[in-house]
Amino acid sequence: MSNIFITGVSSGVGRQLTKQYVADGHKVWGVARRKLELQKLSEELEEDSFHYSVCDVSNEIEIEKTKSEMDSNNFNPDIVILNAGINPESNNNSFSLIEIEEVMQTNYLGALRWIQIFIPFFLEKKQGQFVAISSLNAYRGDSRWIGYSASKSALSRSFESLRGRYADKGLFFTTIHLGAIDTGMGANSSSPFKISPSKAAKKIIKTISSKKPCKSIPIIPRILIGFFRIFTDRLFSKMMNTYRDHK
Ligand SMILES: NC(=O)c1ccc[n+]([C@@H]2O[C@H](COP(=O)([O-])OP(=O)(O)OC[C@H]3O[C@@H](n4cnc5c(N)ncnc54)[C@H](OP(=O)(O)O)[C@@H]3O)[C@@H](O)[C@H]2O)c1
Repeated sequence: MSNIFITGVSSGVGRQLTKQYVADGHKVWGVARRKLELQKLSEELEEDSFHYSVCDVSNEIEIEKTKSEMDSNNFNPDIVILNAGINPESNNNSFSLIEIEEVMQTNYLGALRWIQIFIPFFLEKKQGQFVAISSLNAYRGDSRWIGYSASKSALSRSFESLRGRYADKGLFFTTIHLGAIDTGMGANSSSPFKISPSKAAKKIIKTISSKKPCKSIPIIPRILIGFFRIFTDRLFSKMMNTYRDHK
């Protein structure tokens, strides 16, 4: 049985990861901002298998408070899954630095803050696994999402660096690049490769236990993104927009 810490458990992929880990006999500590959704999830799960803190991952004070709550309950994670993410830009086509900053604070720095919190403990016990829930958008800037693609690219690149730095210290850094998933965030996607959050969670858990450094889920969109590299950015953007307009 492992202790698993997950960010963004109030909906979508994080919620499914929590349910599947608990069903497999593990203990989960989850965080998110919506207290009501966290309470509902807690009521669905077996007593003492799931603990939560209401915490905004862009707020350092709330993160410190969450760490204290975990310490008081003697909850030390074996696996830390950095899943919380937003994409407010999907709602419009404007350029907003405020939105881009919010995206970076949540998707990028909101993930790295937990590495700062847990890495001393992992180094001391010479084991531990961090998991980044990134996106296929990390591989190519999308004209619809200026901050989102950059935040996921930064997260994936940082994990490459961390993997190199801590390779001989017993620590694992796993990066998962998700394609379209049928959650609130993926609702507008018309991708024919879209999968359910429970299927995504199943594949993520399998990848985490195999300790693979990097995995794309599902794989076909990853192959297509590689192929689309031959297109100029302008052509790629036109193609994505035409596809979107005709869905
Ligand atoms: N769905 C897709 O098509 C897709 C594709 C590629 C990658 N991904 C990635 O997969 C991950 C999970 O997304 P999802 O599809 O499951 O979307 P989702 O249903 O919208 O879930 C996002 C989760 O992140 C939490 N969250 C957002 N901002 C937060 C903050 N500041 N502090 C704490 N928690 C926060 C949300 O909880 P609260 O609102 O309660 O805080 C929610 O639990 C994200 O990193 C996303 O970028 C998704």
